[in-house]
Amino acid sequence: MTEAVAFPQNRSCPYHPPTAYDPLREERPLSRVTLWDGREVWFVTGHRAARALLADQRLSTDSTRDDFPLPTERAAGLSRRRRAALLGWDDPEHNVQRRMLIPSFSLKRTEGLRPRIQATVDRLLDAIEKAGPPAELVGAFALPVPSIVICDLLGVPYEDHDFFEEQSRRLLRGPTGADTEDALTRLEAYLGDLIDRKRARPGEGVLDDLVARRSRGDGPDREELVQLATILLVAGHETTANMISLGTYTLLRHPERLAELRADPGLVPTAVEELLRFLSIADGMLRVAREDVEVGGTVIRAGEGVVFATSVINRDGEVYADPDTLDWARPARHHLAFGFGIHQCLGQNLARAELEIALGTLLRRLPGLRLAVPAEEIPFKPGDTIQGMLELPVTW
Ligand code: HEM
Repeated sequence: MTEAVAFPQNRSCPYHPPTAYDPLREERPLSRVTLWDGREVWFVTGHRAARALLADQRLSTDSTRDDFPLPTERAAGLSRRRRAALLGWDDPEHNVQRRMLIPSFSLKRTEGLRPRIQATVDRLLDAIEKAGPPAELVGAFALPVPSIVICDLLGVPYEDHDFFEEQSRRLLRGPTGADTEDALTRLEAYLGDLIDRKRARPGEGVLDDLVARRSRGDGPDREELVQLATILLVAGHETTANMISLGTYTLLRHPERLAELRADPGLVPTAVEELLRFLSIADGMLRVAREDVEVGGTVIRAGEGVVFATSVINRDGEVYADPDTLDWARPARHHLAFGFGIHQCLGQNLARAELEIALGTLLRRLPGLRLAVPAEEIPFKPGDTIQGMLELPVTW
């Protein structure tokens, strides 16, 4: 077995897995990595094993457990004391929370949001066209699209976006555990106030529905409601924003694929699925074994940490032919970019709708879109967070 490499690693190209994982890619389905505190954990690299393990409830997401693998010192400063709603809980508690939210994120509900998403995208592109060229696409498009959409859906005032986007950024990429903790405290205080106001003056968002359930006696208590609001608001805009920015960058770096999409806009949903596989922006899902679990002849012992290397799993050559190539013709379905099992992304229908509309409309309305500076000069996010572009200067 190769000597354990460190996790997480920065990508050297924003749309490829870190090159340091290359030797581990040959060691399917399981390898080992070392965390910042010197702890060795399992590194799942094979697609079939990943699906089996993510569906196995003997693996826990409870980040308050002492043996839970924490990917950074920063996370260690925070996660031992708190855990996120939904993602930090195992069933049956997780299931109770998830069931309350499923109707709000169903395919039917999110399909019904498409006209409003389209109107938001059009409005932002009107402003971009009016002000440019050039434009900085993260600030002008990739971030506001999902931010406006999730505010609308949850019933959070978008006027406050500077505040909550800043706290989300600190939450996911703050310099220290203390900074992360502070961002979480501020965000929770803000959402707590908002929820209290909604009790007095109900509106029509998902948070208003949860407040109403609570008043009827079958909903979450105030603290749980604040925690649900926090994960929905943060997960609801950061991830999709990164997919829009990194997806656009990747398309502009693959002119042939881009030309195919422009020639046949009907390919956009297929392209979104392949981009989700290819980019795997949530690169590193974390679990701890509650009991011994056998997979592919290896036993993961109770108490051992497990990291799912999404970018490597989604390029398993046994499942995807020529996996490092972006290809609209391949069946990209069954990728694990949204996870798998009980924690599989709650917002995936919404994310797909947003990505299809945002990328499809961007390409249609700005046919001359191109990078405004050399690709190598454009900064992208470090490996310990959700992958995406920090800035995206474009012209047309
Ligand atoms: C392209 C965009 C997105 C990607 C790539 C993504 C990815 C993921 C992944 C990989 C997980 C599972 C994590 C794990 O098992 O450890 C997850 C869970 C989750 N996602 Fe997303 N997500 C996206 C968009 C969204 C949106 C728009 C929302 C809207 C609210 C959302 C809400 C959630 C929630 C609440 C969970 C936890 C579900 C649970 O524990 O039951 N995500 N997401």
